[in-house]
Amino acid sequence: MSLVLDPAAQDLLFREARTANTFTDEPVTEEQVQAIYDLVKYGPTAFNQTPLRITLVRSAEARERLVRHMAEGNQPKTAAAPLVAILSADNEFHQELPALLPHFPQAKDLFFAERPVRESSALLNATLQAAYFIVGIRAAGLAAGPMTGLDFAAVQKEFLDDDHTPLMVVNIGKPGEDASFPRSPRLAYEDVVTTI
Ligand SMILES: Cc1cc2nc3c(=O)[nH]c(=O)nc-3n(C[C@H](O)[C@H](O)[C@H](O)COP(=O)(O)O)c2cc1C
Repeated sequence: MSLVLDPAAQDLLFREARTANTFTDEPVTEEQVQAIYDLVKYGPTAFNQTPLRITLVRSAEARERLVRHMAEGNQPKTAAAPLVAILSADNEFHQELPALLPHFPQAKDLFFAERPVRESSALLNATLQAAYFIVGIRAAGLAAGPMTGLDFAAVQKEFLDDDHTPLMVVNIGKPGEDASFPRSPRLAYEDVVTTI
């Protein structure tokens, strides 16, 4: 009774949501992806920065190029998923900070003048946004299959540039037959939480 979120929504987002390894042929539309982004863009980040970039791999030609850079075990599902997204972190996110943080535009130069600082901040905050994105995919009644089993350097060279660091590739769609592996255990509250 401690959670105020509707139990069906709790199930949809977490308890019954599973990582999918197979998908139906049902397409994932531009409207669905936009609805997902327009929901999860409200997830919090440091200084309200928005370093996450999402590259939707829609053409067959681009999909083929991406599949080549996936780990062998990830190739068949990446080839077959209705939609595949490359998530990356924009290390030049500070350029947008004055617009995104209008009450403190000096943050751009005060905190993010140095590239290494930007890279670590972009990595943390874009990864947070990637997690929000995965939960958003579930909110749309779809399943996500996030993957880091890939050649990151090759994906960056082929699809991104020096300012964009790839984080993961995500398969998106309605789960197909035998879509998920057996649910693995999770650590219990007492294993994770300490109070001081
Ligand atoms: C960042 C990230 C990277 C992952 N990389 C891979 C991967 O390369 N290949 C794969 O088959 N599964 C990958 N997974 C899937 C996880 O193993 C899966 O989400 C986790 O075991 C939970 O599964 P469940 O949602 O079915 O409980 C990845 C998941 C995340 C979040």
